[in-house]
Amino acid sequence: MKTKIAELLASKIEGFDTQKVEQLLEVPPKADMGDFAFPCFQLAKVFRKAPNMIAADIAEQIGEQPFLAKVEVKGAYLNFFVDKTIFVRQVMERACQPGYGKSDLGEGKTVCIDYSSPNVAKKFHVGHLRTTIIGNSLYKIFTKLGYQVERINHLGDWGTQFGKLIVAYKKWGSKEAVEENGIAELMNIYVKFHEEAEKDDSLNDEARAWFTKMEQGDQEALEIWQWFKDISLIEYKKTYEMLGIEFDSYAGESFYCDKSKRVIDECNAKNLLEESEGAYIVRLDEYNMAPCIVMKKDGSSIYATRDLAAVLYRKDTYHFDKCIYVTGLEQKLHFAQVFKVIELLGYEWAKEQLVHVPYGLVSLKGGKLSTRKGNIIYAEDILNESVNRIHEIIEEKNPNLPDKADVAHKVGVGAILFNDLYNQRIKDVVFDWDKIHNFDGETGPYVQYTYARAASILRKRNLSEFDMDCCIDCSILTDDASIALLKEINRYPEVIKAAADRLEPSVVARYAMAVAQAFNKFYHDNQCIVEDEEVCNARLKLLSLAKTILRDSLGLLGIECPEQM
Ligand code: ARG
Repeated sequence: MKTKIAELLASKIEGFDTQKVEQLLEVPPKADMGDFAFPCFQLAKVFRKAPNMIAADIAEQIGEQPFLAKVEVKGAYLNFFVDKTIFVRQVMERACQPGYGKSDLGEGKTVCIDYSSPNVAKKFHVGHLRTTIIGNSLYKIFTKLGYQVERINHLGDWGTQFGKLIVAYKKWGSKEAVEENGIAELMNIYVKFHEEAEKDDSLNDEARAWFTKMEQGDQEALEIWQWFKDISLIEYKKTYEMLGIEFDSYAGESFYCDKSKRVIDECNAKNLLEESEGAYIVRLDEYNMAPCIVMKKDGSSIYATRDLAAVLYRKDTYHFDKCIYVTGLEQKLHFAQVFKVIELLGYEWAKEQLVHVPYGLVSLKGGKLSTRKGNIIYAEDILNESVNRIHEIIEEKNPNLPDKADVAHKVGVGAILFNDLYNQRIKDVVFDWDKIHNFDGETGPYVQYTYARAASILRKRNLSEFDMDCCIDCSILTDDASIALLKEINRYPEVIKAAADRLEPSVVARYAMAVAQAFNKFYHDNQCIVEDEEVCNARLKLLSLAKTILRDSLGLLGIECPEQM
């Protein structure tokens, strides 16, 4: 419609092509000001006439048009009112296409998303929950736009901490305790190590020696390390399963140790390395950044070295068009340094293709929990608690609901995901159970409940998927609430693109909420199950379309919809 109006205007205004007019066309803030508005201020200079006179002239030239209900002159604006029935038909036809929302924008392009990436032998805390949730949603959004996406879990599975763990295990650990309590036990002995090392510094030397053994490929050291890693992965995978998340690669930091040499060689070739207190660094003063350390005194790699190696490896392996890193804001400098060094190595693409996607902290209402200050809350616990609480609500309100456990799972997990993704990712997330689980608030359960409501109405008619092919009388859907819902539905493809452009799943979350609200208004104003077959068909068709969009958009956030709640 917008293009059609732009074409029409361009044919009446000399020197303005369709594209230019389309850029100028606005969507007025209120429905009574029309569907599109064209401001004539810019034309005043060209035609040397008052803008309101120009608007009146153009309106006269346009006259009657089959697809326009009316064209109004309001001051310097031309307001276009699209014929409602035509609008309804257009949206219906478009949105009923299979795969509505998908696009081929990313065809032939690859995006690597580096997310979740917990640190082996440490529990998965709520900070890692955020990267996991945001990364997973970005994966779904980019896939929808036709990109090939590589989901990479860059495990924190290398570093001196493993030397400490081996020492701790040998001194105070036992096979049985680790097997029985998993990561919790590894964390216990790790804490013990630090307590003891306070008193006896030689423990630190022992730890360093074990890490050196690991770096040199010592079999015993690597076996213990591999075992710690396996134990940790079993626990991580439980959380991933709970969230319905998978990865294409678990190549973590250890994978890149033997690839660090290339980084050093390339830095040398470009004359970037400088010795500093025995270590090798790349100076970044010119870019107002602290130097990037690429090699420690003892010749071993560090976090940054392994990230540098990972960039080069991923470029060669996946030929990515973008490589996205989802981590907390506190790693901003780290990624800025890594990206800059890659650029200095002569890889110009670093500027556009390497992107850090930071996010804010998590706290519990009452301020008990912070990812920075300790007092850590674990992902597992928060997910389980959410599911249990929802289970209780169901027991109280709807004890006869079939598949209670499954519903509680979908809603409990969905509530956490939605709460995480509803605000811009850079903002801090607060866990306030009453708010997260409020079925009338701006929450996941509210949107899921709206979906279940739509599903139950279709069930009344024995329709699970309403027959989308049936012809309907579009003029039935021209009331304000139906039109408002259709306008939301119409927006879906642009919403997905905007979310990808801004790397911001909240755009989709806000949208799902807007559709749910528009749906509830539509359903409030329009009875769907009515005598009149034509009216019933038309409304049910719109209802089922909204239902599909709700499920699809929540799906982009990683949230599933139960059919009954
Ligand atoms: N393991 C790191 C952490 O927990 C996150 C890794 C992010 N990805 C990367 N390529 N550096 O803080």
